[in-house]
Amino acid sequence: MRPSFIFATLITILFFLSLIKSIKSVQEEEQYQNDQESDRVFILPGQPKGPSLSHFSGYITVNRENGRALFYWFFEAQTEPFKRPLLLWLNGGPGCSSIGYGAAVELGPLRVKRYGTELEFNRYAWNKEANLLFLESPVGVGFSYTNTSSDLDKLEDGFVAEDAYSFLLNWLRRFPQYQAHDFYISGESYAGHYVPQLAELVYDRNKDRKNYPYINLKGFIVGNPETNDYYDSKGLLEYAWSHTVVSDRVYRLVNRVCDFRLLNWTNECNNAMNMVFDQYKVIDIYNIYAPKCNLDQVSSSTYETDAKSSSLRRLRIYSGYDPCFSNYAEEYLNKPDVQKSLHAHVGGKNNGRWQVCNDSILNTYNFTVSSVLSIYSKLVKAGLRIWLYSGDTDGRVPVIGTRYCVEALGLPLKSQWQPWYHNNQVGGRFVEYQGLTMVTVRGAGHLVPLSKPAEALVLINTFLMGQQLPKH
Ligand SMILES: *[C@@H]1O[C@H](CO)[C@@H](O)[C@H](O)[C@H]1NC(C)=O
Ligand SMILES: *[C@@H]1O[C@H](CO)[C@@H](O)[C@H](O)[C@H]1NC(C)=O
Ligand SMILES: *[C@@H]1O[C@H](CO)[C@@H](O)[C@H](O)[C@H]1NC(C)=O
Ligand SMILES: *[C@@H]1O[C@H](CO)[C@@H](O)[C@H](O)[C@H]1NC(C)=O
Repeated sequence: MRPSFIFATLITILFFLSLIKSIKSVQEEEQYQNDQESDRVFILPGQPKGPSLSHFSGYITVNRENGRALFYWFFEAQTEPFKRPLLLWLNGGPGCSSIGYGAAVELGPLRVKRYGTELEFNRYAWNKEANLLFLESPVGVGFSYTNTSSDLDKLEDGFVAEDAYSFLLNWLRRFPQYQAHDFYISGESYAGHYVPQLAELVYDRNKDRKNYPYINLKGFIVGNPETNDYYDSKGLLEYAWSHTVVSDRVYRLVNRVCDFRLLNWTNECNNAMNMVFDQYKVIDIYNIYAPKCNLDQVSSSTYETDAKSSSLRRLRIYSGYDPCFSNYAEEYLNKPDVQKSLHAHVGGKNNGRWQVCNDSILNTYNFTVSSVLSIYSKLVKAGLRIWLYSGDTDGRVPVIGTRYCVEALGLPLKSQWQPWYHNNQVGGRFVEYQGLTMVTVRGAGHLVPLSKPAEALVLINTFLMGQQLPKH
């Protein structure tokens, strides 16, 4: 055989090989697109007639071997979805659901009404500004599950971030039309850990384009975020004292017996802090001037210390809990016809009951990270857009602690602490540093979009546009 013949044959074979490969990948893409359409949500029970919304929900597998799948609910932007950024929202806990809080009572376009029988349209929904993605994370929360129960003993920040990252990659394969959109991550409370950690993972892997697809991450925003245990605990105590929740005596006692720099509080400190939390039992710690919900609470251990380790571990209570609203959300999301419309199942795994916060996750979660401030320093340097906001009537992750955290970063000041306005009233204050903005929302509790929906919409819009909050 002549060399040129061999060469031609080789080229032909290569050509057919690449053809087969591209047909295969086209087929794969088509499969993903089909999955997308089968996740479409049509009319939900109790949904208002208008306006019409384009939304999807379902499961994304994050680990094939162990059978882990995370549940999402996605709302296209109300106008021009093809132009607007993609925004992921995460709630905290750990163990609380972004569907039950974020979507159903805070910033989603369909909020659960009182008594949980109907939905109402939320005029201040954040999908006015962005394509809005809610994720129930980690496995064990809400409708998200694992087929390998030992996974549930391994939950800690690193595990959560890895699964959320896999979720993102696979979700973007199912919704490839969003792959090139600007992408932002948002969340509140314990998501003060999840959000920067996920951003860091995306940022690091974006540099390794050989092994990982690129995600067009532009920044993140967190509300009343748990950021640094020491500053957050110090802030919690000082807030309780300065807002007349506890006496001078209790304040002095805690200051004397507690060292918040320790990972595990001493018995003495736990007892003293219980005096603080006792005062918060009779009001709503998440919104100290709001009326307290007097319905029976669904989750029992909200203010209790984990029984088996009460003396050793630090006191843990949910971040992100409004008992009345969660009752309605639980009522609604446990309806079989609602679950069917959302392509969700709670089947065998948890006695068929969906819960807004899962106590057993809070109690078994391995708290391995006491501060995420170093991630801030790294990602500020990387040039991501980073905002923190804080509802100033939250006693759980109060604005005082967040101020300490921001101060500790030592960033150069860009503009002074000053008021921002909405409807000719002060909406809160803001301060700008090189690479980071901090905003307060006046009169808002832990769940800012629930307390101050109009102000929260101004806030997210301003963040996404990369602008400055209105100064008059
Ligand atoms: C979990 O197990 C069920 C029952 O075998 C199966 O149908 C499902 O696909 C599994 N989930 C995942 C994510 O593999
Ligand atoms: C804190 O308490 C946990 C749980 O009881 C224990 O496993 C851990 O070793 C303790 N850590 C320190 C630093 O004492
Ligand atoms: C809560 O989490 C535990 C694991 O910590 C899991 O076994 C259980 O099924 C979950 N419960 C609900 C109601 O989702
Ligand atoms: C929690 O995580 C730490 C650090 O990864 C590990 O050393 C420890 O064994 C874990 N604890 C539990 C109870 O799994």
